[in-house]
Amino acid sequence: MSSSLVVLVSGEGSNLQALVAACDRREVSGEVVAVGADRDCGGVVWAAGRGIPTFVVPFRSPRAKWSSALLERVSNFHPDLVVSAGFMRILSPAFVDACDGRLINLHPSLLPSFPGPHAVRDALAAGVAVTGSTVHFVDHGVDSGPVILQREVPIEPGDTEESLHARIKGAEHELLPEACRLVLFRQSPAQRG
Ligand code: GRF
Repeated sequence: MSSSLVVLVSGEGSNLQALVAACDRREVSGEVVAVGADRDCGGVVWAAGRGIPTFVVPFRSPRAKWSSALLERVSNFHPDLVVSAGFMRILSPAFVDACDGRLINLHPSLLPSFPGPHAVRDALAAGVAVTGSTVHFVDHGVDSGPVILQREVPIEPGDTEESLHARIKGAEHELLPEACRLVLFRQSPAQRG
């Protein structure tokens, strides 16, 4: 039985596209049933073009009220897994609790190093030789939940934030589908035959 995934995005959605492609190839036993965003963005445009239902809930203070409106839209699709893939907003504790272990996030650093919104820039500024990406369960902190998978990406001489982030995204396009596969596998012991 295929699982239902709702993906949350704020940007171009290259990771969303990689995840949908992995589902199409049956590497992930799930289907992206909806894409949600906090703004109009490339990810939503791409999903709509693919015929995937989309919704946009523009961010407004207070966060708790906005999160609750977003949760309502997400819950309409009864997802087995909610995937924050380049979603640049912090969700309320009530949203996290409602997802009950079914909410994961993709972050472009080797957590716990470089949490926050400028992870690629911060890794370059720190002068580390290796950074990478992490998929983790979301808890009440910022980029702080239990790690599912990580992938290293070496920093090369002359790297800019753009060049480094492009290589990190290349790694993420494999990492995110693999992490989803693992989480869904763990959720569905009956399928293991
Ligand atoms: C990814 O690098 C993700 O780790 C970060 O935002 C980026 C999203 O890229 N949080 P895209 O929209 O999937 O292309």
